[in-house]
Amino acid sequence: GVTAKIAPSMLSSDFSNLASEAARMLDCGADWLHMDIMDGAYLDCHLMVTNPFDYVEPMGKAGASGFTFHIEASKDNWQELVQKIKSKGMSPGVALKPGTPIEEVEADNPVDMVLVMTVEPGFGGQKFMPATMDKVRTLRKKYPSLDIEVDGGFGPSTIAMAASAGANCIVAGSSVFGAAEPAQVISLLKNSVEE
Ligand code: DX5
Ligand code: ZN
Repeated sequence: GVTAKIAPSMLSSDFSNLASEAARMLDCGADWLHMDIMDGAYLDCHLMVTNPFDYVEPMGKAGASGFTFHIEASKDNWQELVQKIKSKGMSPGVALKPGTPIEEVEADNPVDMVLVMTVEPGFGGQKFMPATMDKVRTLRKKYPSLDIEVDGGFGPSTIAMAASAGANCIVAGSSVFGAAEPAQVISLLKNSVEE
């Protein structure tokens, strides 16, 4: 008999496991995977990829506002990468893994944002590493108006440390998506930072 084509919307999937989520739906009998493409204001994109250069053009076309790459993935030519990101109309940010010292990004700093990873990159729901706050403090002292983003393990019970260290952009995954009232958590995080 006739059946409908079923197209699960990937917007409701677990974004940190897109490939396996897609495979899971196909295994379950999905015909299509429905991708909701939104036009890009407010997309703060954190690229955990080996070759960030390859992504600048597609991310720009897709409407990203911020393009944050990992210094570990682009040690020698990151200043050139920054110019390319700017030329595509995006705001450049540089990310540091917990074990990477800030000296790597300090020389003639041309970025709009430094992302200090507070967990090892890979997935949400990990525990925040307090030792990373030294880097935030040092950067804040040196660059009073730089955007400093922290990413990993933040929620109502851990935000105070990042706020007092001087972070002003907070990534929150599980604490927001897993909350009964995300608006409350967002507002609490928003109001925690010191000016
Ligand atoms: C980790 C990612 C994070 C992660 C944060 O590699 O960069 O953005 O999703 O998730 P939580 O807030 O749950 O630690
Ligand atoms: Zn991230």
